Amino acid sequence: MSILPSLLAVLACVCFVSCQSEEEIKRERYITEGILVYKGNCANCHQTKGQGLAALYPPIAKSDYLVNKNKVICLIRYGQQGKIRVNGKQYNRPMPAHPQLSDLEIAEVVTYIYNQWGGEKKVTDVKSVAPVLEQCRTELSNATMK
Ligand code: HEC
Repeated sequence: MSILPSLLAVLACVCFVSCQSEEEIKRERYITEGILVYKGNCANCHQTKGQGLAALYPPIAKSDYLVNKNKVICLIRYGQQGKIRVNGKQYNRPMPAHPQLSDLEIAEVVTYIYNQWGGEKKVTDVKSVAPVLEQCRTELSNATMK
């Protein structure tokens, strides 16, 4: 009897487990960095627990605005002005742009927000954030040229 099939089965299993935990390690790394980005750049308005501040700053925790992740990615870098509605309440104060944050830092803080308050359990990879940022950069520069 050959032991090859069972050996292969064991190998496949080991790979599956270690591949999974690599993804998990990455998620934890993104979240750890994301917390720092959040504390340094967001918490003074949106507060440490993401609960927002009165009628001034909308909550991020359980915000229904999070359904549109691309919009969230863009508003972090480019800011946001005008009326917006979050969980049925209207807000209307400018949120400043954060041009100092790198694509990776934005990916990290987005991962943190969505894992902490958006019900997700996965990484928002910098590879998926970069093209979104590029897209809204062109849209915004077209809009200002009109
Ligand atoms: C100076 C205060 C301020 C800072 C700093 C700030 N925000 Fe905001 N943020 C706002 C305001 C005000 C709005 C609502 C904008 C409007 O009324 O159009 C907003 C809106 C949002 C929204 C969409 C609405 C919601 O609550 O879900 C998200 C998401 C968000 N901010 C995330 C962030 C993140 C992440 C950071 C840090 C990188 C950050 N903000 C830093 C003030 C701030």
